[in-house]
Amino acid sequence: MEHFFDSFFVLSTIFALCLGRIVKVPAGPLIRVEGRDIVIPCNVSHFDGPPEQDFDWELTQDSGSKMQVVSTLDSSFTDKSYEDRVNSGEIAVERTSASSVVLKIKHVKLTDSGKYKCLTPSTDASISGNYDAEVELRVISDSLKVAAPQSRSKTGSITEGSSFDLRCTASQDSVEGTRLSVTWEVRRGAASEKIISLNPDGGVMAGSDYSQRYQAGGVRLELLGNGVYRLVVSQALPTDEGTYVCVAGQWVKDESGAWKNILEKSKDVGEVKVTPIAPSLMVSVGEGNVTLNADSTLELTCTVATANSGRSMDQPYSQRTRVAHAAGAHGP
Ligand SMILES: *[C@@H]1O[C@H](CO)[C@@H](O)[C@H](O)[C@H]1NC(C)=O
Ligand SMILES: *[C@@H]1O[C@H](CO)[C@@H](O)[C@H](O)[C@H]1NC(C)=O
Repeated sequence: MEHFFDSFFVLSTIFALCLGRIVKVPAGPLIRVEGRDIVIPCNVSHFDGPPEQDFDWELTQDSGSKMQVVSTLDSSFTDKSYEDRVNSGEIAVERTSASSVVLKIKHVKLTDSGKYKCLTPSTDASISGNYDAEVELRVISDSLKVAAPQSRSKTGSITEGSSFDLRCTASQDSVEGTRLSVTWEVRRGAASEKIISLNPDGGVMAGSDYSQRYQAGGVRLELLGNGVYRLVVSQALPTDEGTYVCVAGQWVKDESGAWKNILEKSKDVGEVKVTPIAPSLMVSVGEGNVTLNADSTLELTCTVATANSGRSMDQPYSQRTRVAHAAGAHGP
């Protein structure tokens, strides 16, 4: 068995050497938003020579012009038009291992769109395999907007058990297959909690602490059209107090088919204060004094009402309790 693995290892090494050098970049195209930072990885494997490899990055712009951007080996590689951005560190090539690097561009511009080629100068005894790999970058304009309608009051005070709603508008230009997500969050102190969101795939999902109320219909997200997203909370709890935030996200599908967030913006929509019912409850039990005989039946009526009648408690709440065989309750 050991021999098998030994020869398997030898065979696969020979096979890899025959294939020669492999340079890899993400499949792309990479869709990114102008003004954001981007990172493009590149690595090399199955090469001869020293373990530390060098990398050059070239760009073929959409106009067809070829630019030499940056190199790990030679600072004179960089074209004049890129010198300022490379010297200021806005564009850099950084090693992540002896055989891999990342190209970093801060505040990416629309004109940075094009095909990025990662090249590894040969250190091999004989030329075999791929010495470069290319990935397309498409930089799109920032079109993501999130806002709260001005007409609504910023702070709302409501009574526990009543309902409230908040609105926000969110939109994006759907270019290169980008999708929008809208998430309502509540911020209490430093912590934020997700309430409900419309995901880029069109599904609606509640945050873990809200899933029961969402399933019961007590927390809803309504799409009113024209980019208006309304959060409706019924039967408010004292824990619903906080600052409500609307978060808009822009997403693209990456090469594995998973949604990747490329931009996020949020807006504080309003503060909600919840007045608990408990302190304003009036509880009265029966009327007058009752004298009991042994083995008689006692009927008590308990009435609960709120001083400032909340919507869910317009009617006083009463419960009748029968206490049978009252004797013995007083002891000997
Ligand atoms: C090399 O790059 C490819 C494409 O970005 C990536 O999928 C792979 O995981 C990388 N391999 C290593 C060893 O970093
Ligand atoms: C109930 O009994 C107590 C003690 O005997 C007495 O002080 C009180 O006035 C009585 N209340 C009524 C409503 O009869």
